[in-house]
Amino acid sequence: MLTPGFFITFEGSEGCGKSTQIAYLEKYLRKKNPNHEIVLLREPGGTALGEKIRYLLKHEGEEVSIAAEAELLLFAASRAQLVREVIQPALKRGAILLCDRFLDSTTAYQGAARALNSDHVAMINQIATGGLIPDITLLLDQEISLGRARMSERNKKMETPDRMEQEPEAFYEAVRKEYLNLAAAEPDRWIVIDASQHPEQVAEQILNELNKKCSVNNRLVSTLSS
Ligand SMILES: Nc1ncnc2c1ncn2[C@@H]1O[C@H](COP(=O)(O)OP(=O)(O)OP(=O)(O)O)[C@@H](O)[C@H]1O
Ligand SMILES: [Mg+2]
Repeated sequence: MLTPGFFITFEGSEGCGKSTQIAYLEKYLRKKNPNHEIVLLREPGGTALGEKIRYLLKHEGEEVSIAAEAELLLFAASRAQLVREVIQPALKRGAILLCDRFLDSTTAYQGAARALNSDHVAMINQIATGGLIPDITLLLDQEISLGRARMSERNKKMETPDRMEQEPEAFYEAVRKEYLNLAAAEPDRWIVIDASQHPEQVAEQILNELNKKCSVNNRLVSTLSS
């Protein structure tokens, strides 16, 4: 389905800099085109239902046990609501959407790392998204140890680790490997970014790569310059 808007997703393991880079890109886009609607979203979440599911998935897990299959369906429920309530209408209005995680997180985390049946995961993703695929997906790739170091620094400052931040190293290795496989399988949609650099250098890489895509993607050019 071709809509007037443009849908960019950010993927990568915990602490790779998704939130940081979304903020940079938002600032850049707002400055470049102050009148264009930009919508920031995060998964799970972004709707009233999704935020309740987010809390359940991130913080209730210590007292409430959540089987891998239940986890898959909870993420899917949040996504299904987000697509219908927010993403589809925003794309129809012509907005640029920056989304912190989307369907590829499910493929990497519930599919590869939790080792659920990949056909089932693809089918659930299909139901949740209604077939909507991002126009561009930025993968912030880095060594697992770097992400862990950043998370522990961040946790020292403010947050307690959520369920997904307490998995063994092999879990994150599986996530990273799957993301790289997905990116290699669909090079037109994915952009792999070296997230180990300084945040400003990562932001610069993202803009350079988006500009390169602009030259081959007329929709992005017209959305960004309208
Ligand atoms: N390129 C970078 N170099 C060093 N530190 C960084 C970089 N990018 C982000 N950070 C820091 O690392 C921590 C994690 O960054 P951020 O919250 O943006 O990651 P995230 O991918 O959104 O994580 P999560 O998956 O947990 O939401 C933050 O404390 C942030 O300030
Ligand atoms: Mg974040």
